[in-house]
Parts: sequence; structure tokens; C-alpha cells
Amino acid sequence: MSSEIPSSEIPSSEILTEFVDLPDGRSYPVHVGPKAIGRLAELLPPTARRAAVITQAGIGVEVDPGIDARVFVVPEGEQAKRLGVVEDLASQMALWGMTRNDVVIAVGGGVVTDLGGFLAATYHRGVPVVHVSTTLLGQIDAAIGGKCGVNLPEGKNLVGAFWQPIGVICDTDVLATMPEREYRSGLGELAKYHFLGGGRLDDLPLPERVARCVRIKADVVAADEREGGRRAVLNYGHTLGHALETAGRYDIRHGEAVAVGLVYAAEVARRLGRIDDAAVTEHRRVVSQYGLSTVVPQDSDPRELIALFARDKKATEGITFVLDGDSGVETIRVDDEALLLDSFEAVR
Ligand code: GLY
Repeated sequence: MSSEIPSSEIPSSEILTEFVDLPDGRSYPVHVGPKAIGRLAELLPPTARRAAVITQAGIGVEVDPGIDARVFVVPEGEQAKRLGVVEDLASQMALWGMTRNDVVIAVGGGVVTDLGGFLAATYHRGVPVVHVSTTLLGQIDAAIGGKCGVNLPEGKNLVGAFWQPIGVICDTDVLATMPEREYRSGLGELAKYHFLGGGRLDDLPLPERVARCVRIKADVVAADEREGGRRAVLNYGHTLGHALETAGRYDIRHGEAVAVGLVYAAEVARRLGRIDDAAVTEHRRVVSQYGLSTVVPQDSDPRELIALFARDKKATEGITFVLDGDSGVETIRVDDEALLLDSFEAVR
């Protein structure tokens, strides 16, 4: 573990609470800030007698739910996001006597909150879950909005659900212990929010920055919980980003791939006449000032990556991009392969 994050980035300040507004009494608070973990017990349902705390060995964050709690340590990394792990956890919870009045607490990054959310969505046909998110990427994305699931050998997140938590804790003190590269990768996801209405997020102290991202995501989720349309804007920068990850040949983290994906999307949007040079420059400035690369890995093959853009789409449908423009970021179909190839020249 190393921490090169300047301590000045993590000032003390009050806990900020954002709400995800949803129908049917499912709205929930997200507590953001230093020592926010101390607010965990108040998020638990009054009916809960037992809390199943799901975490990974490397997380190292202890929680005090204030009720009878058992810690279930799941395998490291993406190995935790398997149906076999869900079955094993559900069996242990059943043997312990957990009922649908009890609660799951997922403590970790996106892997753990995805797994813990899916476990909660399915155990006893749905039990409450609280996410204690311990990574920057998790706090501004994965822990908010209810998408959860596990992987299959055939692909990532192929089995999942929409299951909203009843509360989320984003303790920004915990981020100081993140390995530097993982933290920086989170900044790639954060860069996206500059263009989703966040503005100069880099001028804000960390807790306010995280809270602003949570607010933006909460508004998008409230408007389109099941990703019928608007929620797709949260994939800004992800078309190239996912292709770079899916290619599997590059040493690149999710947020690093999204970061260059944002610059690429800006270059595509400029060639389509949707944004001007100044907007492209702002994308480059934001990505660079977070210490992230604005170019694709040296040995990238643009044709291979473009093929991956369209992988799950019918050829006649073109490629669905999320692009900036006069009306803000929106989904746009692009089928001009020459333009997509030309845009690569600007990120090489
Ligand atoms: N991570 C994108 C979403 O939650 O919709």
C-alpha cells in the first residue's frame, strides 16, 4: 500500500448527505465525508437483528453496525463476483438464521458492492443492503444507483439485478489508504462528471467533489432508474474505455481507459461539429490535470478497437456513442468508420 495522495486533498469538514430520490419509499441517503463511517448504525433498518458484513481481506476497513454482526470474507478481486460465492454466502447466512428483516453490509470497492448488492437482491427474495464504499470509483459510481451482479465465464456482469441500497457511506478518510494507481484510476471516472454538469470539480476539496459526483449520479438514477435512456450518459468515455479493457492486451485500469475515452469522445464530437476546439481542450485539461493519459496505449490497433465498439450491436445500427454537444452529453449513433479512425489520430 502506498499513499501519494497529498493530505491537503483530504481536509476535515462536515459530512455531506445527498439523497437518491426514488418512488415507493425507496429513497436513500448517501453520507459523504471524513469519518462518515460513524453514521453506519443509523442507516440500518430498525427490524434488523443480524448484519452480514461482506468484505475482502485487502480492504482493511472495520465497521461497527451496533447489532449482532458476522464478517464474511470473499475472494480477492473479480474472483469474488461469481455465482458460487453468492451460493456459499447465502448458505452461511441461512445457517446463521438470517431473515429478510436482517441486513447485508457490503464493505469494499465496486466488486464487493456489486456482489453484496446481488446477494441482498436474491437472498430471501430481497433483503436490505447498505454499501460502505472504500474506493473513489465505488463512491462516485458503483455504490450508487442499484446496479449489482456477478460475472460468468462468458462475460462480466451477465447475471445481475437492480437492487437499491437503503443507504451508502462514502468515508473520504478511507480513500487516503488506497494504492496511488487505483485512486488515480478513480479520478478517470470522476473526470467524466466535469462534463455531466459537475463543472470545475477539480477546484473543490475531495469530500465536496465526491458529494457533487454522487448528486449528479443520483439525479440521473432518479430520472431513469432502469437505464431506459438517460442513465446511459453515465457511460460517457466508456465506449473506447470498455474496448481497451475488453481487448485484454493492455495494462490499463478502468478509470485510465475511461480517461482517454473521454478525450476520444471529444475528438469524435468535434469532428461531428457537436463541440468546438475549446471544449476538446477542456477535456484534455481535465484528464491531464488528474495525472491521467490522453493517449491510447502505444500498440493499440484502432480497427480492432472500433470492431469492439460494435461488438454487441447489429452492424446496421451503427455504434452508440455518448457524446458532448450543445444540449450536453447524450447518446448518439455514429456509423462513419472513417471519422472514428481519424479521431484515433488525435489520441495516439
Ligand atoms: N455505472 C453506470 C451506472 O450505474 O449506470
